[in-house]
Amino acid sequence: MKVLLIGSGGREHALAWKIAQSPLLDALYAAPGNPGIADHATLVELNVEDHAAVIAFAKEKAIDFVVIGPEAPLVAGLADDLRAAGIATFGPSKAAAQLEGSKGFTKDLCARYDIPTGAYQRFKSAEPAKDYVRAQGAPIVIKADGLAAGKGVTVAMTEAEALAAIDDCFDGAFGAAGAEVVVEAFLDGEEASFFCLSDGKTALALATAQDHKRVGDGDTGPNTGGMGAYSPAPVMTATMVERTMKEIIEPTISGMAKDGNPFSGVFFAGLMITAKGPELIEYNVRFGDPECQVLMMRLKSDLLPILYATVTGTLDRVDAEWRDEAALTVVLASKGYPGAYDKNTPIAHIPEASEEAKVFHAGTALKDDRLVATGGRVLNVTALGKTVTEAQAHAYALADRVEWENGFCRRDIGWQAVAREKV
Ligand code: AMP
Ligand code: GLY
Repeated sequence: MKVLLIGSGGREHALAWKIAQSPLLDALYAAPGNPGIADHATLVELNVEDHAAVIAFAKEKAIDFVVIGPEAPLVAGLADDLRAAGIATFGPSKAAAQLEGSKGFTKDLCARYDIPTGAYQRFKSAEPAKDYVRAQGAPIVIKADGLAAGKGVTVAMTEAEALAAIDDCFDGAFGAAGAEVVVEAFLDGEEASFFCLSDGKTALALATAQDHKRVGDGDTGPNTGGMGAYSPAPVMTATMVERTMKEIIEPTISGMAKDGNPFSGVFFAGLMITAKGPELIEYNVRFGDPECQVLMMRLKSDLLPILYATVTGTLDRVDAEWRDEAALTVVLASKGYPGAYDKNTPIAHIPEASEEAKVFHAGTALKDDRLVATGGRVLNVTALGKTVTEAQAHAYALADRVEWENGFCRRDIGWQAVAREKV
């Protein structure tokens, strides 16, 4: 099979690494890719926003299967355009990608199909939203409806904060994404991410993970795209997994199909495990980044036929096998991230991978044959261990061997699981 992978982050490096191990693979291309992905794939300079160019390339190389990593091309309808051109594509349609692209869309789906989530209302202007907040009281959560790079959510502990967040949204802080606002009840509990594949009819549970969104140790400081993650998430016991499938995932997949937007691809539920059980916070219509990196380390099965089963409607015939070990990834980021940071700082050394540990590239590039950091999140140091504690020790031992002066990382990724394992 000839495969084209779309994307350039750590998530796509992990996917490329795993796909490259498939006996079914004849050739792997990546657009635009990164220097880490180049170890497993031929990099192609394609503007992914130019759907016609992607289709032309796929036809020229007789690509059998396109795998789309990030959300932006999905929300822009790249999967629809590729499929319309007769090219098998992993990733949801633009209509189905609304599960991530519009918080209101997902909340309405939950309401229609009785999926547990926080009580909510949608608003198109500030005053009625503020009246609702005053009636409900704090804590309460204010969300810009659209994609806001993870920054559109305010968990307001006071009414004043909530009112200010509503003004921010309608004053354009998140551009068009904030033209509509969802106000939602605050859910108290422990968070987990639950990854699944769907072919439109069947949902296949993959694995669970927990990520660390804040930039600082102890989960402090501003939100980021994610500073580290581990899998499995201990809060997702077998009972919680079963309930999540029955109460949240299955009604979502059947509801999407009933509404005429069958979902095919990978998605993950951001869950809050409350006193009542699992409740949905949000959906994402792609692998998480850096959660994908820990999932790929733990996946024993060949990834390619599992991904391909989502486009042939045969997910009920495949299974995903997982290592029992835990995997943990530490993000090395440019000093200053998520604020301003220097670009093109030299990375002098990246340690060799082993069976148990690997450094995935995210924001790197080659400049005059030298590896430099070009992004905020730059490297994902990922390791396995019998426990999260052991995986954490392995990952930090490897991270400490990376030579990159302008890099930093959190030192406590996995702390909740490590604390649990001590008990
Ligand atoms: P999201 O971008 O929707 O994942 O939200 C970002 C973060 O805000 C989540 O990971 C949660 O920590 C928090 N959050 C979102 N919705 C709620 C809610 N209803 N109750 C409590 N926390 C929430
Ligand atoms: N790490 C969170 C995400 O990919 O959305």
